[in-house]
Amino acid sequence: MKLAVVGGGSTYTPELIDGFARLRDTLPLTELVLVDPAAERLETVGGLARRILAKQGHPGRVTTTTDVDKGVEGADAVLLQLRVGGQAARAKDESWPLECGCVGQETTGAGGLAKALRTVPVVLDIAERVRRRAPDAWIIDFTNPVGIVTRALLQAGHRAVGLCNVAIHLQRKFAGLLGVAPEGVHLDHYGLNHLTWELAVRLGGPDGEDVLPSLLDAHGPRIADELRLPAPVLARLGVVPSYYLRYFYAHDEVVDEMRTKPSRASEVAAMEAELLEMYRDPALDEKPELLARRGGAFYSEAAVALAASLLGGGAGDGADAGGVQVVNTYNHGTLPFLPDDAVVEVPARVGPHGARPLPAPPLDPLYAGLVGHVSAYESLALDAALRGGRERVFRALLSHPLVGQYAQAEQLTDRLLAHNREHLAWL
Ligand code: G6P
Ligand code: MN
Repeated sequence: MKLAVVGGGSTYTPELIDGFARLRDTLPLTELVLVDPAAERLETVGGLARRILAKQGHPGRVTTTTDVDKGVEGADAVLLQLRVGGQAARAKDESWPLECGCVGQETTGAGGLAKALRTVPVVLDIAERVRRRAPDAWIIDFTNPVGIVTRALLQAGHRAVGLCNVAIHLQRKFAGLLGVAPEGVHLDHYGLNHLTWELAVRLGGPDGEDVLPSLLDAHGPRIADELRLPAPVLARLGVVPSYYLRYFYAHDEVVDEMRTKPSRASEVAAMEAELLEMYRDPALDEKPELLARRGGAFYSEAAVALAASLLGGGAGDGADAGGVQVVNTYNHGTLPFLPDDAVVEVPARVGPHGARPLPAPPLDPLYAGLVGHVSAYESLALDAALRGGRERVFRALLSHPLVGQYAQAEQLTDRLLAHNREHLAWL
């Protein structure tokens, strides 16, 4: 089985390799190709990838290339985990929105729109190459903003599923608190990528008993602390929002905080420099502890499980006991208040046919309202990414629940365009 990772020079890659090595029974890889335009970095990461597999006695071969066409040729699955413009572009997304009173974040709000505009054309170009060189391959998209990028891929007719680690992270967290194995926990996880709520935490599978109320009684303050929301707020909601909901529920507070703190991009850039230094050490043959300080915990488990299911094997313990995984895919009626071609993040059964969402419980208007609002923004954001033009950027920003005022949308549009000139072909 051949798998290609585009953006394979990422410092995150050893996490993925570690997953491939540990979970080899789930996913029998024979060849792993790391594809990245940054040749030197690619060699550094590729070297460590080989040492990790060798140490664990994995027979798979790791190759590297800067050529996307070559890399994806004949692949069974292609993982996309790229970041157009690197941490430097992310640093900008996290700063200029603050000048206009909007959260500065890589996937949420105006910064997330900038990332979508830079990323969608690049991902679609890669996907076209996959279509030509590996027509049956599944595309697994980790590239943010995952909801918008997945929608772009599906709309262009690609065999794609979007993936994020928020759900698997919470599944592991809750399993730990409950003292059960992770696959024994099923989440009623509903919404859009980075805009989800755990409506129930079920033991054993989708029909299992909901233990969320008792989980919140016993561990509410601890969970709230991790989400950085006040414990009484979490108790009142009675469901667990993803930590991205803090950018909505505590928007102004977050903006004040971001104005005084170093950006996440600068923290990550410093960590990346340190990680690459470690990776260059020929004696290193495992993923370093430092990697755990990145946000992508458990993404390898989610990726291995999804790839294995799409390619016809079992998901191993990356799915829950009911064989269900949380993915980004077409809505197709799952959330009845959204268009069919919206992309939602929901529990689904996954197989060689793709992802089939489970029937969803009704969503409280408290959540449905925000989901509808952001989903509409996502459709306008995709329109702007595909067709370009200042007016389309403005419309997407005006539609966003964290913007909504024309004067602010104008200011944000000007800044977004000024800071992204080199990445937007239509400018
Ligand atoms: C979480 C999100 C990812 C995001 C990452 C950022 O894992 O689900 O979509 O890319 O956090 O982590 P970082 O360490 O780059 O801030
Ligand atoms: Mn994510």
